[in-house]
Order: sequence, then C-alpha cells, then structure tokens
Amino acid sequence: MKRIMTIFLLLCGLMLAAFAAGCGQDEGEGKTVALLFPNPSAGGPWQYIGDTCNKQMQEAGYKTNFQFCSSPENQVQQLREAIAENPACIVIAAQDTGNLGEALAEAKEAGIPVVAYDRVIMHTDAISYYASFENSSVGEFMARYVEEKLNLKGGAGPFNIEFLAGDPADTNAPQFYGGAYDYLKPYIDKGQLVVRSGQVSFQDVATPGWSGEKAQSRMEDILRRYYSGGEALNIVIASNDDLAAGVLKAQRSVGYSGPATLLTGQDASSEAVENIRTGRQAMTIYKDPAVLCTKIVRMVKAMVEGSQPAVNDVTNIRNDKITIPSYLCIPVIVDRENLDIVKN
Ligand code: BGC
Repeated sequence: MKRIMTIFLLLCGLMLAAFAAGCGQDEGEGKTVALLFPNPSAGGPWQYIGDTCNKQMQEAGYKTNFQFCSSPENQVQQLREAIAENPACIVIAAQDTGNLGEALAEAKEAGIPVVAYDRVIMHTDAISYYASFENSSVGEFMARYVEEKLNLKGGAGPFNIEFLAGDPADTNAPQFYGGAYDYLKPYIDKGQLVVRSGQVSFQDVATPGWSGEKAQSRMEDILRRYYSGGEALNIVIASNDDLAAGVLKAQRSVGYSGPATLLTGQDASSEAVENIRTGRQAMTIYKDPAVLCTKIVRMVKAMVEGSQPAVNDVTNIRNDKITIPSYLCIPVIVDRENLDIVKN
C-alpha cells in the first residue's frame, strides 16, 4: 500500500512539474511579438486593450515591441520598423483599415505571420488570422435591446430614432451599423420607428475618426432641425460610447427638453459606465479585452510553435483578397442591472 502511495505521489509530482513548465514564464522562449495599436488619444478603448494584451503576452513569456500610433501614416511606419526587427509574429489593430496593404506585403515577404486584431484589414493577403468580437452582433444586440425595452414586438410606437455610426476608415463601423439598422428596419417600415432626419445610409450617419466632437455637432444639427418643437427623440443608436457621449453633450448644448432618450453605446468606457449608473445612457456593449487577448496569445503561441491556432470561423470573414480564418468572441450587453461585470 505504502509503495502504491509513493508511486502515486511521484506521478502527481511529475504531472505538476510538467504543468508548471507548460504554464511557466519561459513559455514564449523570449521570442518577440510586435503589438501595434491605434491612437488611444483619438478615443475608443485602445489604451486599456493595448495594455491588457501587452501584459498577457509578456506573462506568456514573449518579449513585446508594443506601440500605439499617432496617425495612420505613423502606423505604417511602425509596421515597417517592426518588420525590420523580424519578430516571431505581428499583431495589429489597424488605425486605418485601408492603408496597410503595401507594408503588410513586406511582412509576408519576410515570412512574418500577422494577426489582425479587432479590425479586418483591406487590400492584403498577408493576414494569417483575425480575432475579434462578432461585429454584427454588436449592432444587433443594441437593436434587440431597444426592441425589448420599448415593446416593439408588441406593436408599441411610434418612436423617433436617430443613428450615429463609426469611422468609414474602420471596416467594423458599417458592420456595427448594419447589425442594428437591418434588425430595426422592419419596425421603420411599419412606422413604429420614425427617423425624422431621414438620415439612414451609412454615409449619412458615419462619424469620421469615431470623433465624439463630430458626433456632437451632427447631433446638434439634427436636434435643431428636427426636434426643436418639443418632439421627442426617443432612441439614439450610437455605435460606441464616444459617440454616445457626443449625443449627451449635444442635448445639453441645444437645451433638448423632450423625454429621456434610450441611448446605446459600445466599449463600457468609464464615462459610459457612469452614465449608465446615473441613467443618462441605457446600455453599452462590453467586449472584455482580457477575453480576446487570451485568444490572441493562444493564436500567437500556436503559430510560433508551428501548429494550427484554434479558430471558430473559416468562411465569413473576408477582405477584398482572401477569406481569413478567425476567432470571434461573443460580446455582452451591459446595462444598470449587470454593470458590475465591467472590469476596465
Ligand atoms: C472597435 C470599437 C471602438 C471603435 C473606436 C472599433 O473598431 O471595435 O470597440 O469603439 O473602433 O475606437
């Protein structure tokens, strides 16, 4: 019996040692991964996302060349500098999804695998994998939230609604918008939702640079032209929290006096969390960066080790050149009821 026990303990020890080696600091064997992110001072969640990813990558044992860019041109330059250092892998969240093709061709030429983070990059076949949250679900979740809170299925209405979409230079922006608009369109057609401004094409509702200021001035214009006679602006579908903040500023600056607006957002920014707590914003879509970065670290590890990264979509994510194997995470609706799940 004693002998069996000793063998058992020995086996446990060996298993623990093997596990520790697998999870250890030197898992990445000191290889360098370039992490290139958009300009955080232009808004959006990039500072927190970048820091989270960098930390996780380092904890997995990789050295990182971690950069935020200051402009689309600056990101191209950072990408070229990263390629020159021949990293084991490049992870890039594009500032402008349209201008990286040429530099990425150089990465491919040098045999460096590239993972596109969050935004699909156009005009290139040099992307090995893409990892993101389901972008059209982001918009659809906003729409379903409105549907439920205002009992659209039960025939309620008419309600006035306006839309604020994201940056035309970001491939995600039309997907967020399409996810929401397409879901709500039947209610617009039936007259339960009314867009007084008539602005519904992506071009009309897009916000260059995801700029909160631009969102504010477009909303001020809409409020002055279509909601100055006491009309209620019941709903604004804002594609992210910066745009939602612009809506609240616009309402204050023009003295909007109608009933409260059901306002959506995305990212669970600290400002949005506060606005949800105090009732000025109804909801946001939470895309926990830790969840996505975990997937990215696994992808990088598999590529560096020469194995196949785990993906859950091999057909739907395309740019103008290739279909990109992808890992898509599910975003989460956050409102007053579950605000405490937000970690940033
Ligand atoms: C991201 C959003 C973000 C927006 C603005 C999008 O590509 O997916 O989370 O709010 O960019 O930075």
